[in-house]
Amino acid sequence: MSAPADAPRDTGAPAAPVLGAAGLRVAFAGRAGRGTARAVDGVDLDIGAGEIVALVGESGCGKSTLARALLGLVRPTEGRVVFRGRALGHRPRELKELRRRVQLVLQDPTGALNPRHTVYDAVAEGRRIHSGSTADEQEHVAEALARAGLRPPERFFLRYPHELSGGQRQRVAIAGALVLQPEVIVADEPVASLDASVRGEILQLLLRLRDDYGLAALVVTHDLGLAWNIADRAAVMYLGRVVETGPVEDVLSAPRHPYTRALLSVLPESGSGEPQVLAGEPPDPTRIPGGCRFHVRCPVLASGAAAAAGVAERCRGEEPGMLSGSGAAQVACHWAHAPERV
Ligand SMILES: Nc1ncnc2c1ncn2[C@@H]1O[C@H](COP(=O)(O)OP(=O)(O)O)[C@@H](O)[C@H]1O
Ligand SMILES: [Mg+2]
Repeated sequence: MSAPADAPRDTGAPAAPVLGAAGLRVAFAGRAGRGTARAVDGVDLDIGAGEIVALVGESGCGKSTLARALLGLVRPTEGRVVFRGRALGHRPRELKELRRRVQLVLQDPTGALNPRHTVYDAVAEGRRIHSGSTADEQEHVAEALARAGLRPPERFFLRYPHELSGGQRQRVAIAGALVLQPEVIVADEPVASLDASVRGEILQLLLRLRDDYGLAALVVTHDLGLAWNIADRAAVMYLGRVVETGPVEDVLSAPRHPYTRALLSVLPESGSGEPQVLAGEPPDPTRIPGGCRFHVRCPVLASGAAAAAGVAERCRGEEPGMLSGSGAAQVACHWAHAPERV
């Protein structure tokens, strides 16, 4: 896949990011005897103009919380959301502006659409909130539907969600985002609820929006195959942190973090030998292990390879540094950085 953002990344001078997280943390107060959940626990992540970034990782690792923080829907406990070079404050006007320019597309279009609203109203709604009803509303709604691949758009105006297929409903939800002419789309598991047959179409649509209009996207997914098909860059999250990031080809074809390797090994098409089932308990953000947060499940530590490389003590006792949000290939793993690695 040829990504327009390739060149700047490789020269080390990436275009200014549109949207990003800087030292971002989000903690949720514990309920009924449970400790504080550090759902996002120190993340830098930039999304460049016209760039598609896939945020991947197992369920519960903090992907949706990070996405919601980037949309201004949940307040960071620490750190900042940076939009177009400016730290986002909490004034209603700032949030409103962010919510126009950064649009959310959710997993389940059926839940996102009101069953009693026509397609026209569903798409016009967001625009009315931001600009009121204007004389050119119909033109904008038609254009958004057409861009989302519902053509001719007029034919869809008076339809109701139940009259549409799952794929068409997701296109209506995307049109509802496009009508606000956003700069970034944050799509949280955008095809997880769709039939396999239409998943590819929706992903193609996101790619076309990037190519034709320079629309950037953060695509949240637990599906690495999907990330591979759509993203310029991948960020792999584990227990609230990005543990590996870089151009998608690097991260997914030459993964360096044992966690990324384990995730990839269970893909049927990986061809990387035995699937690696991770040992230990599922990760719990109320009890993040000290040292490397992955060490209790790390196959490299368990096999003795980390000890052989002379880093086992660091794995248990020293937290790897936070990765920078830029597009450069980086990994937060003592073993991956060990000179003695075998
Ligand atoms: N509103 C909330 N209150 C308390 N805990 C939450 C809340 N939202 C998410 N969490 C917890 O934060 C962690 C990360 O959740 P989430 O961001 O939804 O992960 P993902 O999208 O990767 O599956 C989970 O342990 C989840 O239970
Ligand atoms: Mg989620």
